[in-house]
Amino acid sequence: MSTHTMRAIRLHEFGGPEVLRYEEAPVPEPGPGEVLVRVHAVGVNPPDWYAREGMPNVPPELKPPFHLPLIPGTDVSGVVAAVAADVSGFAAGDEVIGLLRFPTALQGSAYAEYVTAPASDFARKPAAVDHVHAAGLPMSGLTAWQFLIELGHDHPSPFQEAPHRPMALGSGTTVLINGAAGGVGHLALQLAKWKGARVIAVASGAHETFLRELGADEFIDYTKDRPEEVARDVDLVLDAVGGPHSRRFLRTLKRGGSLYPVYFGEFDDEENAKLGVTVTATQVRSSGEQLAELGLLLDAGTVRVAVDSTFPLAEARAAHERASRGHIQGKIVLTVA
Ligand SMILES: NC(=O)c1ccc[n+]([C@@H]2O[C@H](COP(=O)([O-])OP(=O)(O)OC[C@H]3O[C@@H](n4cnc5c(N)ncnc54)[C@H](OP(=O)(O)O)[C@@H]3O)[C@@H](O)[C@H]2O)c1
Repeated sequence: MSTHTMRAIRLHEFGGPEVLRYEEAPVPEPGPGEVLVRVHAVGVNPPDWYAREGMPNVPPELKPPFHLPLIPGTDVSGVVAAVAADVSGFAAGDEVIGLLRFPTALQGSAYAEYVTAPASDFARKPAAVDHVHAAGLPMSGLTAWQFLIELGHDHPSPFQEAPHRPMALGSGTTVLINGAAGGVGHLALQLAKWKGARVIAVASGAHETFLRELGADEFIDYTKDRPEEVARDVDLVLDAVGGPHSRRFLRTLKRGGSLYPVYFGEFDDEENAKLGVTVTATQVRSSGEQLAELGLLLDAGTVRVAVDSTFPLAEARAAHERASRGHIQGKIVLTVA
């Protein structure tokens, strides 16, 4: 293989997992302010399959300008291979992690042996974990961080006009996390525990032991009980499932409480005002700085990334098929030889 080509997963048309092709592609070159990374592992996230499908339910004027062939993927753990002349924070040989170009490009070409991205998207890889676990952190970890701990930027969100301002969490706070076993949910649970909150985890029954081991104080199996009927006087619901059914959680909140739907749904401002509750959300953004803070929590053992399953890069199709079966516990990760 020439030194200027690499193996990557590309799609030449939108569709099911079968459109993911493992093939040769040019090695990207770092532009100004960018870093070239030799990828060791890639975290898989819902936007990877939204992009693969071509976002059929999104109105054309809101669709990102995807150019085919497209290399999907946003989350990497790897080793710096080269840096642009104007980059000072990283050098060749550094182990790094990143959520790449999100949401500016929505896909950061991570399903590949090499990838470039702005240096500001990267942080040092937490030394205590391997590349597989580190690659599971970026998008899910930053989503949990920006929803629960600190938004950390003033970019407007496509989902709401006002900026998302997380409520303070402490020992007197009860947080319900719906979809607690998934990528965002299991990390959000651990961040809420780190802040001292009491956590009610909602998931299907097979995840109970896993979630209690992560610190859940209470567990609701949504296949047996409706969480919106069982939970009351909650300060905060982080709904990591979100969507049209998210509104049912309003009745679980005490006055002054908040609902954070991670996937957009429809809410009625008048109803929220009558109940005395706030519904607020954001869209995750790349941030090397915040990833570095999360990395410290991984190094300290305060937070851990759970791995649902791994697949070699060449088998990205099987990874997407696994994702489509649902019930993910932690993260699906691609390994890059
Ligand atoms: N706003 C943003 O910027 C942002 C950022 C990241 C992700 N998201 C969105 O957040 C959502 C979650 O992402 P993710 O990466 O965490 O997905 P994921 O890893 O696939 O996790 C989804 C989890 O939800 C659980 N689940 C499914 N149906 C459920 C239900 N009815 N009640 C409770 N739990 C249920 C699944 O397991 P069980 O069914 O077995 O419990 C699974 O563990 C996606 O829609 C994604 O697009 C938004």
